[in-house]
This record gives sequence, structure tokens and C-alpha cells, in this order.
Amino acid sequence: TGGVTYDPGFMNTAATKSAITYIDGDAGVLRYRGYPIEQLAEHSTFLETSYLLIYGNLPSATELEEFDQKIRRHTLLHEELKGFFGGFPRDAHPMPVLSSAVSALSTWYQDSLDPFNEEQVELSTIRLLAKMPVIAAYAHKKSIGQALLYPDNSMNLVENFMRLSFGLAAEPYDVDPDLVKALDQLLILHADHEQNCSTSTVRLVGSSNANMFASVSAGINALFGPAHGGANEAVLKMLRQIQADGVKPEDYMEKVKNKEDGVRLMGFGHRVYKNYDPRAKIIKKTAHDILNKLGGNDELLEIAMRLEERALADDYFIERKLYPNVDFYTGLIYKAMGFPEKMFTVLFAIGRLPGWIAQWREMIQDPQLKIGRPRQLYIGEGERHYPTR
Ligand code: CMC
Repeated sequence: TGGVTYDPGFMNTAATKSAITYIDGDAGVLRYRGYPIEQLAEHSTFLETSYLLIYGNLPSATELEEFDQKIRRHTLLHEELKGFFGGFPRDAHPMPVLSSAVSALSTWYQDSLDPFNEEQVELSTIRLLAKMPVIAAYAHKKSIGQALLYPDNSMNLVENFMRLSFGLAAEPYDVDPDLVKALDQLLILHADHEQNCSTSTVRLVGSSNANMFASVSAGINALFGPAHGGANEAVLKMLRQIQADGVKPEDYMEKVKNKEDGVRLMGFGHRVYKNYDPRAKIIKKTAHDILNKLGGNDELLEIAMRLEERALADDYFIERKLYPNVDFYTGLIYKAMGFPEKMFTVLFAIGRLPGWIAQWREMIQDPQLKIGRPRQLYIGEGERHYPTR
């Protein structure tokens, strides 16, 4: 193979060294900067966890306050950028709207594009953290034909996002602290996951010295796929289909095991976890709490629990070490909160943003930074001669 290693899907190739996130997939362990995910989910906030991922340590109270204030000051979108949302069809999926608008940030904010200027990197970090939830909420509002609200900077990041998504221009919006807390925790759980597909995309694009907005926009597109972030939407579609067709969960499992039409149990399996995904454990409890609070017994949750119970006891899943992943229960929670299915992967993107930023910044500061450029094994024709007449 001419000294080139063939590793499809990068199953065994470490493309980088990183000090951000540690995963032990066999033991089901996930830590950000050394802190176990369970402790962060219980005690931290999304804002604090974002700081931890990006800057390496937990902030002091003053540092957190300054970080919060800076983000609040940057929530406004340029008025012309708001016009952008009218350019898409009403039924557009919000993920491509989000990636397009994030890409377009580099046209409106040209003073923060230099990857090797620390101040500019800092400014684009704050701009992205502040503006991406606003863009996401606007993509949603446009799809339902409602007016875009201005951010209210007396609110924190997550409260503001809820209000921009669900509030109406003519009425005050009462934030439900339980929902804000649940969403905040879900965002913490999604905040980083080392070299997953979208993060590797952010790094690969960034390795050409493309700016942070361009790199993150590429990451959003990678996240869109149903084998990655799109799985949360695919899980809910699967559960609704099972419900609508009146299929018994056990019969659906047979279909999955026989690989009929390539069906998979969405929300199950992971490249790295060969054990219960630690995030899924926490989310399962939140799903129960939120569904109890908002809507009593949800039939879809029942179906999900029956599928999980069956899968965990089934040889097919045991042999392949397939366990529920982060996406299995999230869709049910988002749905109960009032988000339409199309928004689920957008919520994942808001959560993953600090991870993308942290990984991009780590890459750009790496003295060994090299442009990402995989090799190949050529399997095409040998030399041929162009026919001359
Ligand atoms: N349902 C049924 N069978 C499965 C599933 C599943 N969800 N996942 C894997 N398998 C089988 C697969 O058919 C293969 O069987 P065999 O050895 O007989 O060919 C074996 O398990 C190994 O699967 P693989 O596709 O080689 O594993 P991978 O590491 O390449 O894929 C995955 C990982 C997450 C893409 C895959 O498990 C999957 O498609 N899951 C469903 C989609 C999903 O939930 N994605 C979210 C991932 S977590 C959040 C995120 O990162 O976005």
C-alpha cells in the first residue's frame, strides 16, 4: 500500500492530540477537561461548561459574570442579516438555514476573521455563542410564519432562546424555570464529544486556515446527517411510525435484526461507546421528569422504553454492544417542550457549538498544525491512451 494505511471511517486513526474531552467507550465514561459529565450535568450551567471547554478551566465568579455580560452584548443580529431568513422557502429545514446564516456571519462581521489574531478569535467566539441561538430561533419563527423578536438581554442565553422561539411580539413571555433548567442540562450533555464527525469536519475545514464561522458552518452541515445529529429527529419519526402503524415494538425489533430495508434502531449504537452512553442515562431521567410535568403518560415514551428493554435483553444488540445513545430520548423531551421535529438537530447544534469552538481554537494554536489531507488507495484504471483519429 505504499506506506499508506487503509482505515475507512478513521476507526483507528488519531488525527490529533487533544486536551479537551476524554471518553472511555468501554466503561461508558465522558469527561470535559477532566470533569465527569454527571457532575457537570448536575451542578454546572451551559454557560459555565462552555467557558470550561473553551478556556480549559472553570471560571471564577467574576470571570463567569464577564463572559455572560459579553455574550449578552452580542446577541443582536445585523438588521440586514435578518432579511436573509425571508430568502428561504417557508418549509425549509432549519438546519441548512442555520448553516447558511452562520456561514454568512463572515460577510457581516469581517473584523473577526483572522484565525491567527487572538483578539479576533475571541470576538468571533463570543459572536458565535451569542448569535447562533438567535439565528436558530429565527429559523424556527420563519418556518411558522411568526415575527422575529429582538433578544432581551436581561435574560440569560437559554431563557432568551426559549423566549425568541416561543414568545409572541404582543405578549410578555413567562419563562418556565423547569424547562430552562432541562434544556440547559441537555445543552451541557451535547457540548463536546471529542473527534466526532462534525467536530472533525470543523477541524478539517479550519486546518486550511478558514475562519471560525466558515468552519462551524461546515460542522453544522456534517451534524445534519441522520447517522449523526439528525438521529434525534429520526428517532421520533421512528416512534411515531411504530405508533401510527400499530406495530408491536417486538415486531419492529425483528425487522431491525433481519436488516429489512436497512432499518436500524435509531438512537442505538455508537462508534465509541460499547456500553451505556452516560449521557443517555441522565437524559432518560429528564425525559420522565419533563413528560410527567408537561403531559402525563406519553405513549411514545412507552414505546421507546419497551424498545430499549427488548434491545438490552436481545442477543443481536448484546453481541454488537449496541446501547441507547444520547439521541434516543432527547426528541421526546424537545417535543414535550414544544419544539417541532425539524428543530431537534438545531438544538443539538446549539449544544455542540462550544465544543466546536474549543476544538477549532486548540487546532489553530497547535504548533504542529498541518492542513488535513487524508491519503487514498487508488483502485481505478491504469494508464490509458486517449484515442486519436
Ligand atoms: N440498529 C441496528 N443495528 C445496528 C445499529 C442500530 N442502530 N447500529 C449498528 N448496528 C449493527 C450494524 O448493522 C453492524 O452489524 P453487522 O456487524 O451485522 O454488520 C454492527 O452493528 C456495527 O455497526 P456499524 O455501522 O459498523 O457501526 P459504526 O460504528 O460504523 O456506526 C452508528 C455507529 C452510530 C453510525 C450506528 O450505530 C448507527 O447507525 N446508529 C443509528 C443512528 C444513531 O443513533 N446515530 C446517533 C449516534 S450518537 C450521536 C451522534 O454522534 O450524533
